[in-house]
Amino acid sequence: MIKSEVYVNHTHWSNYWQSGVQTSLPQDFKDNYDGEIYYLWEQVVSRLNSGARVVDACTGNGAVALILADIALKQQKQLIITAVDISEINTQYIKENNPKEQIAMINFKSHCPIERLADLINDQQDAIVSQFGLEYSDLTQSAVALHNLMKENGELSFIAHSPKSAVFTYMDLESRIYTWLDEIGLFAIIKKFIAGQVSANGLKNGIVSVIENNKPDTSYLGHGLFQSWQKTMFMLIKQPNQQLKQQKQSLSLFVTQHQAAQKRLQDMLNVAMKVSKNNWYQPFVDCGFELEESNDVLYKNQHHIGRYYRFRSMVLEKP
Ligand SMILES: C[S@@+](CC[C@H](N)C(=O)[O-])C[C@H]1O[C@@H](n2cnc3c(N)ncnc32)[C@H](O)[C@@H]1O
Repeated sequence: MIKSEVYVNHTHWSNYWQSGVQTSLPQDFKDNYDGEIYYLWEQVVSRLNSGARVVDACTGNGAVALILADIALKQQKQLIITAVDISEINTQYIKENNPKEQIAMINFKSHCPIERLADLINDQQDAIVSQFGLEYSDLTQSAVALHNLMKENGELSFIAHSPKSAVFTYMDLESRIYTWLDEIGLFAIIKKFIAGQVSANGLKNGIVSVIENNKPDTSYLGHGLFQSWQKTMFMLIKQPNQQLKQQKQSLSLFVTQHQAAQKRLQDMLNVAMKVSKNNWYQPFVDCGFELEESNDVLYKNQHHIGRYYRFRSMVLEKP
């Protein structure tokens, strides 16, 4: 029996994938990951034989699985790829936005926690890959599950978030902006309007008063999140009351999406704390994975985007 508290609440991730995005960093990688990240996965596929079985754990909308399939096609290899995530994968979006030949190589499985992977997938795997994923799981349980699923000498390759990465500086600021928006009461006043507890004029006056009484930190001003809220708030103030009343549904979506984004950010920041410990991956070593390589991943030769780890699956000797 698996304890339920080991899983992050994943609804905010499901919503995110259903909103139609390919990667977890859409501002930098709208279509799919490229550059040094693509090259790294190219090295992994080069080490695999045609016919190899590979799992992409915490696949999201399949970004890495699709990259592996693309490379396999270029290298004229047939891989059997299973892409799994605890959240709801948006297969419709994937089909509409990626080549058929790549998709044909991948079996997508939603609602699949990696802590239980060995129970959910029957075939032993030649390789397991993951990107910005394993560190979200309960490492003690997922390490055992991955080891049980892997063939002897199989390769576990993953890119993990790194607290050093530029992404985190950006996310930290974004998270502070969300907290500030919450604290000054902007979320609350919009929610009250949606629930019919304040009138359209009440909403407008509420927003004006919040803006007049709260000075944002200067570091927020150039940030896209802050600017998009600023634009939306000015639009709401200027809108005729009748139109405003008709927009409750889209306002409700706006609030839900931003609250989900705030939760995802919090998840990522918690994970950054987790991986800031030097031996955070010790559970993998303890259950029989041997570390072969570990490097910082620099994107476009300068942006620190994460850390790459390559492990080999060994059979543990009995004490
Ligand atoms: C930052 S996203 C990365 C997605 C994708 N690999 C990418 O690079 O675009 C993290 C993903 O991990 C998934 N996840 C979190 N905990 C998980 C778990 N215990 N088992 C399986 N998936 C999990 C989330 O649902 C989310 O889709």
